[in-house]
Amino acid sequence: MNSRDGFNSKLGIIAAAAGSAIGLGNIWKFPYMAGQFGGGAFILIYILAIILMGYPLIYCEFALGRKAKSNAVDTYGIVTQNKKWNIIGYIGVGTVFLITTFYMMITGWVIYYLWHSITGNLYTVPESVQATEYFAQFFTQMNSSMWAPLIFALIAICLTGWVNAKGIGEGVEKYSKIMMPILFIIFIILIVYSMTLDGFKEAFNFLFKPDLSAITPTVIISAIGQAFFSLSIGMGALVTYGSYISEKEDLRQLATQVSIADTIIALFAGLLIFPAVFTYNLEPTAGPSLIFISLPEVFLKMPGGRIFSILFFVLIIVAAITSMISMLEIMVTFVDERTKLSRKSVTWLIVFVVSIGGMINIAGEGPLSFIKFSGKTIFECLDYFTNNITIPLVAVLTAVVATWIWKIPNLNKELTLGGRNATKSDHFFNLLLKWVIPPTIIILMVALLLGVQA
Ligand code: PFF
Repeated sequence: MNSRDGFNSKLGIIAAAAGSAIGLGNIWKFPYMAGQFGGGAFILIYILAIILMGYPLIYCEFALGRKAKSNAVDTYGIVTQNKKWNIIGYIGVGTVFLITTFYMMITGWVIYYLWHSITGNLYTVPESVQATEYFAQFFTQMNSSMWAPLIFALIAICLTGWVNAKGIGEGVEKYSKIMMPILFIIFIILIVYSMTLDGFKEAFNFLFKPDLSAITPTVIISAIGQAFFSLSIGMGALVTYGSYISEKEDLRQLATQVSIADTIIALFAGLLIFPAVFTYNLEPTAGPSLIFISLPEVFLKMPGGRIFSILFFVLIIVAAITSMISMLEIMVTFVDERTKLSRKSVTWLIVFVVSIGGMINIAGEGPLSFIKFSGKTIFECLDYFTNNITIPLVAVLTAVVATWIWKIPNLNKELTLGGRNATKSDHFFNLLLKWVIPPTIIILMVALLLGVQA
C-alpha cells in the first residue's frame, strides 16, 4: 500500500463525483428506459427514487468511506469492527467489475460512431436501402466484426487507465475538472438546438405528463434500479471517493449537489433526444439501440445533422470516461491497499483483467451471440443481474450497516464534520435509511425474483 492521496479542492470533488454519476446511464440508458416504460410514469418514480432513496444513500456511502478512510471492501469491516461485513464490499467491487466490462464495450461503440461520423461513413446511405434498415445493418455489422468494437473499447479503457494511474489529485481530480465543463458546454449547445425542433412540445408532454396507469411493479423496480445505477450507488464508488474527501467538506451538501446535477442531466438527455425522435416520427420505445440506430436516422435528416452527431458522440464519450474513471478507482484503491504493488502496476493490471471481460462481452454481441440465457446475451445478462440484484442488494446492506450497526448517531457525527447539525429534515432522511429503504427494496427484489411482471 502507498501513502494515501486525496482530493485537493471542493470543485474537484464535485467534478469527480458528478463525473462518476453522469455517464452512459444518463445519456444512453435513461432516455431508452423512459421510452420503453411509458415516459412520464417512469420519470415520476425515478425522481421520487432519487430524492427518497438516492440522496440519503449517497451521503451514507460518503460518510462510511470518509470515516474508514479505506477502500470499498475494508470500509465495512472497519466501521462495524467486524470483518464479516466486508462481504458487502466484495459484492460491490464484483458488481463494478462486471459493469466495467460492458461499459467499456458501449463506450467503444460510441467512439466507433464518433469516428464514422467524422469520416462521414456513417451517413453514406446507399440509395437502394431505406435509412432505418441501413442504420440497423450498420450496428449489426459493427458488432459482428468483433475487431472494430474491441479496438475502440480498448481505446476507452486505456484512456481511463492512463488517468487513474496518475492518482487522485493529479489524475482523477484534474481530468474531471477539465472534462465536466466540456460536457456541460456541449450539452447546452445541443439542448438549445433541440428546443427549436417541432417535436419539442410532444417530447415535453411525453416526458413530464405522467400517465399514472402506466405505473406497474416492473416500472417501479426498473426506475429504482436505474436511479441507483445513475447515481453510482451500491457499487462502492461513493465509498471510495468518500475516503478521499477531507473532513472540512459537508457531505450532505455534496450529496445534494451530485443528485441534482445527475437528475438534471438525465432529464435534459431526454429533452435532447425525444424532440428529434418525435419530429422525425421514430419509435420512442426502441430500447438500447435508440442512440445507435434511431438517432443517426434523425441526424441524417436534420440540417447540420453531422455536426450535431459529432458533438453528441463526444458528449457521451466524455461522460462515459469520467464514469469509468470512478469504476476503475474502486478496484484500483482496493487492490492498491491490499498489495505491495505500485498504483501504476495495479491500474494496468486491472485494465488488463477488465479488458478480458470486455472481450467476452464483445464476442457475446458478435460471433458468440448465439450464447443466450433466457433470451439474453452475455451483456444483457450482466446488465440485468447487476441492475436488479447486486446493486440494490449492496444499497440495502449499506443502509442496514450504517443505521443498525454503525448506528445513526455515529452517522450523524460524521456528517456534522464540515456540515451543519442535523435538522428535522435530516432526521427524516435518516429514518428513511433505517426503516423504509431496506424493506421497500427487499420487497421489490423478491417481487422481481418471483416474476411479478405486470
Ligand atoms: N453512474 C454511471 C452512469 O450513470 O453511467 C455508471 C457508474 C459509475 C456505475 C460508477 C458504477 C460506478 F461505479
